Amino acid sequence: MDIQRVGIIGCGLMGSGIAQCAAEVGCQVWVKEADAAFLAKGLARIHGAWDRGVAKGKLTEEQRGAWQQNLQGTLDFAALAGCQLVVEAIPERLDLKLQTFAELDRVLGSEAVLCTNTSSLSVAQLSPVLAPERLTRLAGLHFFNPVPAMPLVEVIRTLATSEETLATLRAFVQGLGKTAVMAPDAPGFIVNRLLIPYLLDAIRCAEQRLANVEDIDTGMKLGCGHPMGPLHLSDFVGLDTMQSVAEVLFDAFGEPRFKAPALLRQLVAAGRLGRKSGGGFYRWEGEKRAEALPL
Ligand code: 3HC
Repeated sequence: MDIQRVGIIGCGLMGSGIAQCAAEVGCQVWVKEADAAFLAKGLARIHGAWDRGVAKGKLTEEQRGAWQQNLQGTLDFAALAGCQLVVEAIPERLDLKLQTFAELDRVLGSEAVLCTNTSSLSVAQLSPVLAPERLTRLAGLHFFNPVPAMPLVEVIRTLATSEETLATLRAFVQGLGKTAVMAPDAPGFIVNRLLIPYLLDAIRCAEQRLANVEDIDTGMKLGCGHPMGPLHLSDFVGLDTMQSVAEVLFDAFGEPRFKAPALLRQLVAAGRLGRKSGGGFYRWEGEKRAEALPL
């Protein structure tokens, strides 16, 4: 199936990024939020990115106008009725996701493909609220932050996902100009299974005072050619998100490398969540990282 009409549930950082990318390649995109203020904020983030593109001369006003036409916000599930693909990108709470998928199953046509952008929950756990004939069209599409800049998408198959659905999703990802990798419906998929223990180890190094925060980051950035050091990246991902993904991985595998270090828990308990709260390992001024904060 050639995907032209896409619904996105949730207009936070991930949802707005996915919506932006789909609108830019010519899909008709409906973004559904539960709350009008969140919707306005998410749409403003997308329009702001396009305005910066025009200001920098990377984008013409005509292109911006066309992309704007491709994007619509809604508070109503019914507006998604004609979508061929819906990607859910709401907070990582199974109860909320189950409610959302039950609504989507009710409003969507029988051919529509349903995906979750979950980074830690099992995709198959969403099956019980779907009609049995929808299960071949349920999958995961795991995007990376910041979505417009990151070229990878993990395509997650459950035991019921059909080859046809996987082919549709591979083509959709390719159409976004991104690369798809196929991953099993196992905790952390591929990338978080490898990335999270690395980031947790860097936090353990900071906790044990192996070196200061800047030097740990500089070591990995300049010594290994990573775009960001691990503590910078932890702030960027969100320390609360890291903690919850670590909990899922530790529950699943029971290995110490997946255990959230005490320092991570203390930072989260203190409200130091990283970029989103203005401070984590570093102080943040909006999108911009400032100096390291005392530990
Ligand atoms: N939103 C949208 N686009 C952004 C962006 C943002 N927040 N930040 C940067 N970009 C875009 C810029 O517009 C620019 O695009 P252009 O080339 O078309 O102009 C491009 O990215 C490069 O940006 P900059 O030159 O300003 O900055 P850098 O070269 O320093 O790159 C970065 C910024 C892409 C964020 C880079 O530092 C990076 O790749 N960092 C690692 C990010 C990463 O690892 N993400 C994965 C996190 S794990 C995850 O998401 C999984 C989850 O489940 C936990």
